[in-house]
Amino acid sequence: MKTMKSVVCTKYGTPDVLQIQEIKKPIPKDNEILVRIISTAVNSGDTRVRGLAVEGFMKIIMQLVLGFSKPRKPILGTVYAGIVEEVGAKVLKFKKGDSVFGMTGFNFGTYAEYIAIKEKGNISLMPVNATYDEAVSLIFGGQTAIYFIEKAKLSKKKSQKVLVIGATGSVGAAALQIAQYYSADVTVVCSSDGKDFVENLGISKIILYDKEDFTKHNNQYDFIFDAVGKTTKKQCQHLLKTEGVYKTVGGLEYASESHQQLEFLKMLFENGKLKATIDRIYSFESVVEAHEYVDTGRKKGNVILKVSE
Ligand SMILES: NC(=O)c1ccc[n+]([C@@H]2O[C@H](COP(=O)([O-])OP(=O)(O)OC[C@H]3O[C@@H](n4cnc5c(N)ncnc54)[C@H](OP(=O)(O)O)[C@@H]3O)[C@@H](O)[C@H]2O)c1
Repeated sequence: MKTMKSVVCTKYGTPDVLQIQEIKKPIPKDNEILVRIISTAVNSGDTRVRGLAVEGFMKIIMQLVLGFSKPRKPILGTVYAGIVEEVGAKVLKFKKGDSVFGMTGFNFGTYAEYIAIKEKGNISLMPVNATYDEAVSLIFGGQTAIYFIEKAKLSKKKSQKVLVIGATGSVGAAALQIAQYYSADVTVVCSSDGKDFVENLGISKIILYDKEDFTKHNNQYDFIFDAVGKTTKKQCQHLLKTEGVYKTVGGLEYASESHQQLEFLKMLFENGKLKATIDRIYSFESVVEAHEYVDTGRKKGNVILKVSE
C-alpha cells in the first residue's frame, strides 16, 4: 500500500491535538484528479473546527455536521495549490503536470501530500503568474469575500461607499481589494498594527479601532461589510444609507464556494487587481505552531503551510 504524510486531528482541542501520521495515499477514480499538494493554508475556519470554537447551540449543530468528539474527516484543511500527478480515465479538463488550485470546503483533507479531486469540483488552473503559496493564499478569504460582495450586488452598482471592518484578515484583505476592483470608495477599520498592511493594498481611508470608535463617525455607507464578525447591524445602522446593505461573517450566514469564484480570483490576480497577502509560512512539521499563531486571531492576511517544495 502506498502511503503519504498527513496531519490528523485526533480530537477537538488545542493545537497539540494535531499529529503528523502516514495514511493511505488516495487513488483517483475515473472522474478524479490526483493532486500533489505543494501549499495549503491554515485558515480561521480550520482552527475553529479543530477547537470546536463556536458558542451555544451552534456547537451541537457543528458536532452533528462534523462529528461528536472528533472530526469524522480527520484531515483538516480546505485549500490547496499543487501539481496534477495523475488523471482518471474520464478526465478531460486537466492533464498531468498542470498547476491547479482549489477549495474542498466541508470535504476538508488538504493537510496532506495528496488529494483526489473531482474534475468538476471547485478546482481551476492556477493563475499563470502565481507561486503555489500566492495561489493558495487567494482562496479562503477570496471566495468568502466574493460571496458576501455578490450578496450586496456591488458589481451592479456605481459610486458605492464601502466600509470594511476587519480589513487585515484573510477575508477583509480580499474584500477591500475586490471592492476597489468594482471602483468603490473604500474605508477600512483595522488596528494600528495593520495600518501598513492596508496602505500596501492601496487604502488611504483608515480608521484605527484602537485609537477611535468608528461607530461615533457620521459617514454614510452603501455597504458595510464586517469581515471579522465583531459588530451587529444595530451598532452600524446609523452609518448605513437608506438603501444600504450590512453583511457580517459573524452571523448565521455562511459563504458557499464555487468554481466561478475561483476563476474570478484567477482573473483578478493575473490582471494585477488582487494581491496575495502572506503573513507567515510554516513547514508541514510546524503545523501546531501555525495553528497557535492563527488562534491568536491577529494574523494579517494568510498563513501558509508548506507541504512540499
Ligand atoms: N460566515 C462565513 O461564511 C465565514 C467564512 C470565512 C470566515 N468566517 C469568519 O470570519 C472571521 C474572519 O476570518 P479571517 O480568516 O479573515 O480571520 P483572520 O485572518 O484570522 O483575521 C482576523 C483579523 O481581524 C483583525 N481584528 C481583530 N479584531 C478586530 C476588530 N475588533 N476590528 C477590526 N479588526 C479586527 C485582526 O488583526 P488585529 O488584531 O491587529 O486587529 C486580524 O487581522 C473569522 O471569525 C471566521 O471564522 C466566516
